[in-house]
Amino acid sequence: MADSPIDLSSENLFDIISTMRAMRRLKPDPVPDELIVRILEAGTRAPNGANSQTWHFIVVKDVGIKKAVQVWYKKALDEIVGPRYASSAPPAGSTAEKYHRQHLAVEYLTEHFHEAPVWIVACIKHDNALIPPDRTAGASIYPAVQNMLLAARALGLGANLTTRHLRFEEESEKALELPEGVHSYAIIPIGYPIGNFGPVGRGNLRDFVSLDRIGQPWSALD
Ligand SMILES: Cc1cc2nc3c(=O)[nH]c(=O)nc-3n(C[C@H](O)[C@H](O)[C@H](O)COP(=O)(O)O)c2cc1C
Repeated sequence: MADSPIDLSSENLFDIISTMRAMRRLKPDPVPDELIVRILEAGTRAPNGANSQTWHFIVVKDVGIKKAVQVWYKKALDEIVGPRYASSAPPAGSTAEKYHRQHLAVEYLTEHFHEAPVWIVACIKHDNALIPPDRTAGASIYPAVQNMLLAARALGLGANLTTRHLRFEEESEKALELPEGVHSYAIIPIGYPIGNFGPVGRGNLRDFVSLDRIGQPWSALD
């Protein structure tokens, strides 16, 4: 492929992106610390506001802590998110059957949340005026979360971005023993996957992209 303008390692990145599904069924088998360290290194290479790196990542292995959070994570599904899920239509790129399977996987992860061998809890220390605790704050942590999800996928580990514990933020953060001024933005359960990696289901680009102003089609997508 010497005459190809495409760098094969970049192609590999696109493969990883397009097969990085939410992996919710995880084996309880331990994950070597060196893999978690590589994932964290990928996370901390991410963009963040003013490069202030106000993030903090808690590697949680303590089953007592995980169980104490799982109680709130499950309560949020049972009482808030679950009923809405059950009555909503399949999203773009999905089908009723796939959506039903997604729901089953969500329930599975909820029941087994604390059994994932490792969690990475992505936090921000809200002590830096450059990162105000408003709706832009997440922009300084979710790129790191995405890097970690991609790194996990590249290493053959299953992972998923979860935020549902924040439906009971105070209770969950107490269970996580977060100090004053530190808030959690995501919990990433990580483990070896029970299922296979596969293509993610999304809608067509045409449904989400316009040229110059919303609603104006872009011929490049025809
Ligand atoms: C902001 C956000 C919060 C999410 N919270 C949860 C969660 O609490 N539990 C969960 O199982 N998945 C959660 N997800 C994962 C989404 O459900 C998942 O990305 C989506 O269904 C697409 O899945 P797929 O990539 O496997 O197609 C969250 C994703 C995002 C972006």
